[in-house]
Amino acid sequence: MKRSPALIELSREHHQALRLALAARRAAVSGADEEVAALAQQVRALMASELEQHFCREEADLLPLLAAAGHAELVTRTLAEHRLLRQSAAALVSPQRGLLLAFAELLQAHVRFEERELFEVGERLAPSPDRVAAAAAPPGEAAAAAAIRASGSRG
Ligand SMILES: [Fe+2]
Ligand SMILES: [Fe+2]
Repeated sequence: MKRSPALIELSREHHQALRLALAARRAAVSGADEEVAALAQQVRALMASELEQHFCREEADLLPLLAAAGHAELVTRTLAEHRLLRQSAAALVSPQRGLLLAFAELLQAHVRFEERELFEVGERLAPSPDRVAAAAAPPGEAAAAAAIRASGSRG
């Protein structure tokens, strides 16, 4: 599904997260010990940087919209999974195959949940550029802007 601008960047980061989950799974299932250790280190480094920033943006920008719209179950599940992922990554200070596989499966399932459920609802709540412009403009200007857009779409 096409994403609104507010969700495009988060969705793009999900692709990177899925690549990390795939690499972690491969290393856990069939990699050498050195590869398991390298992936465990990579997971911990990414959790301390990109992944943590991604979680914080979802928690600060997206979840309050969902909570305000009455989607408490989605908010609770997202927060619980973020907590589990943080704990799972922290446990990789001991780079064991089982822990790495558990992290990979959690991350993959979390991204799928967000793309298929959370973002589908968020898509309907996120302010589109048109709605933001209409809300910001005085009524007369909003009507004029709509008329201009309509005439532009015909020409
Ligand atoms: Fe998330
Ligand atoms: Fe996410």
